[in-house]
Amino acid sequence: MEHRVADLSLAPSGRGKIEWAHREMKVLSLLERRYRESRPFQGITVAACLHLEAKTACLLLALKELGAVVAAAGSNPLSTQDDVCAALAEGGVHVYSRHGMTGKEYTENLRFVVDHHPTVLIDDGCDLVALLHAEYRQLLPSILGGSEETTTGVKRLRAMADEGCLAFPMIAVNDAYSKYLFDNRYGTGQSVMDGIMRTTNLLVAGKTFVVVGYGWCGKGVARRASGLGARVVVVEVDPHRALEAHMDGYRVMDMAGAAAVGDFFVTVTGNRDVIRGDHFPFMKDGAVLANAGHFDVEISIPDLRAQAETVRRDKANIETFEMKDGRRLHLLAEGRLVNLAAGDGHPVEIMDLSFASQLLAALHVKEGNLPKGLHPLPESLDREVALLALEAWGLKLERLTVGQERYMKEWRE
Ligand code: ADE
Repeated sequence: MEHRVADLSLAPSGRGKIEWAHREMKVLSLLERRYRESRPFQGITVAACLHLEAKTACLLLALKELGAVVAAAGSNPLSTQDDVCAALAEGGVHVYSRHGMTGKEYTENLRFVVDHHPTVLIDDGCDLVALLHAEYRQLLPSILGGSEETTTGVKRLRAMADEGCLAFPMIAVNDAYSKYLFDNRYGTGQSVMDGIMRTTNLLVAGKTFVVVGYGWCGKGVARRASGLGARVVVVEVDPHRALEAHMDGYRVMDMAGAAAVGDFFVTVTGNRDVIRGDHFPFMKDGAVLANAGHFDVEISIPDLRAQAETVRRDKANIETFEMKDGRRLHLLAEGRLVNLAAGDGHPVEIMDLSFASQLLAALHVKEGNLPKGLHPLPESLDREVALLALEAWGLKLERLTVGQERYMKEWRE
């Protein structure tokens, strides 16, 4: 099968979105220009499991332009944009996804991608890599390696590497400076607030905004919520991060305490059941619950359902759970990534950096010299992305003088 999309006639709308994004993906464009002649991905089949929206489409089309055969599945049923998929299919990418696909379709789509016998992988959440290891072991030797986009995916890859079962090299793009300092912090910060605000149309100023998890994504969300005038409460299990949140000016509480005071709740932990049956009974009438972690397990929806008298949907992406005592709790985007399921994901310039790193990681992997296991993005490539972004955005870097270079290596002076 060449593609499996909802409706090919949506392609013009998808193309428009892709063109809009591409205009501001200046780092990716620089790389496209650099490699257009040499087509370094000739002979390579790239399999991707990514959020299929316009910025991702720019990466996939760039890989195709540089010589690759590209097969892609959506990494989340609600982040797939059908018009973008239609445009990708028309643009020659083998794309398998549909907005709102069932769990069964999700796995089938990954299988269609695997049927292309990939040599290089780009994963977001590690589902593609996990499926290959679980059910396609005969294909593992022909895979040169791949790269992973997100914190949760890297966590899963680390578990595989620790068990000694990761059969090829994977680059943790998420852990590169040019990724997490910008994408996880500023990307998540802006896109999560955008998703919540465009969905609810509610005021943030003056409200209590609970951020559960103070990693780079949580820091970004807390900062943007605070900037919009919210009182921010941070819930964190790590003592250093909890102290950091305290000194960043936020109130630090445990989840039981935060449950009773929050107007908005956002989970960004990468763990499961962080807001659960223990907490719902103490929440205020009208509380809004959203998740920004990779999987829809951070808010226990089974517990929420079990405690609710009725569930209704008043507005797209909002389910209202009316509790037995009459309180209403509002869950956004079915507990899936609110920024992608109820928005368009991270801003264009942010994904430009992340996907430039992905392209350079794919080039590095396709050279084929890496041992199996989990690897960082090489420092030289990480630095190159930042340098290209400075160049693309017209920002000048200061340079060390010869005397300063010498001084930095000196211990006698
Ligand atoms: N757009 C495409 N991939 C994304 C991601 N991993 N996070 C946010 N926005 C995205």
